[in-house]
Amino acid sequence: MSSGTDIAYAAGILRGGGLVAFPTETVYGLGADASSPAAVARIFAVKGRPTAHPLIVHLASAAQLDTWAASPGPEAHALAAAFWPGPLTLITRRAPHVIDDVTGGAATVGLRVPSHPMAQALLAAFGGGIAAPSANRFGAVSPTTAAHVQADLGGDVDYILDGGECDVGVESTIVDVSGDVPAMLRPGGITREQLEAVLGRRLGAATATPAPGTLASHYATRARVIAVSAAELAAAVDEAAAVQADGVAVLAPRAVLAGRHFPAGVAIAVLSDDPAAMAHELYAALRALDGGGVATIVAALPPDTGIGAAVADRLRRAAGPRDDEDDHG
Ligand code: TXA
Ligand code: MG
Repeated sequence: MSSGTDIAYAAGILRGGGLVAFPTETVYGLGADASSPAAVARIFAVKGRPTAHPLIVHLASAAQLDTWAASPGPEAHALAAAFWPGPLTLITRRAPHVIDDVTGGAATVGLRVPSHPMAQALLAAFGGGIAAPSANRFGAVSPTTAAHVQADLGGDVDYILDGGECDVGVESTIVDVSGDVPAMLRPGGITREQLEAVLGRRLGAATATPAPGTLASHYATRARVIAVSAAELAAAVDEAAAVQADGVAVLAPRAVLAGRHFPAGVAIAVLSDDPAAMAHELYAALRALDGGGVATIVAALPPDTGIGAAVADRLRRAAGPRDDEDDHG
């Protein structure tokens, strides 16, 4: 049995130190018992991820914030109350029991309460915290279906909980609340506008040291990605197709593609115009293009507002300079 919907079986695997891939509302996670160094070590081994890259601990409810964070302040509580369960990760100072294996030795820990019913059921059945990065291997974008997980990690996962397609489709927003001013480290399912409305002030700038996984080339496809504004799309496609039209694909929302003609041989992948729908479709579209043997993807960036900011961020990172030392996710 490698994939299914058996929550009790999945919780038993976690208790035994095994790995369970599970759906969240953002992307699938590769979960292990967050209190077990051996289980957490298996996550790093399977993903091929450097152990200094910290993992998010998934919790059953906001009531557990005080158990895993060391004296979280009023703003941490306000954000947790407003957005948990949901696609928000809070970076807090860690409680003393949080193991180094999860935090990469950092004084902080990433915490999140996912809203997906199957993630909720798994957390309730397991009882403890579940450490989980996105359930993709080196070099792939995050999985948004159980089939993506199977393709990336297959037999290296003890069980895959199949909860269908992830609703949001891009990773959680990460907000660092461990300092004086909350700062957004990664745009995601909860928008800047939503966060600032709850905080009643602007988010601070991210600190000088970027979180691992916010490195430029982190959301990688096999194909080369060129990310441009809608206005620059036609010229960028022409330029890519001038070298060789076969193997070039355009990835853009329907409205941007309307009435445009591209050179013969260029493939077209259509995304929805609504930014939330675009986020939902993005990773499956990138995977499909990669699977189809496309060599160059010319992608149109949505405006940097709302959840469009997360889509634009992932496309820019996919287009970023490739660094073979990087773990891509
Ligand atoms: O939506 C999500 O966040 C998904 C689902 C599975 O919850 N998880 C996810 O995990 O995207 P991962 O490991 O692929 O990305 C987590 C990011 C990494 O960039 C990591 O460096 C950052 O969170 N992170 C975790 N703990 C941190 C900490 N203590 N300080 C700074 N960054 C941290
Ligand atoms: Mg990841």
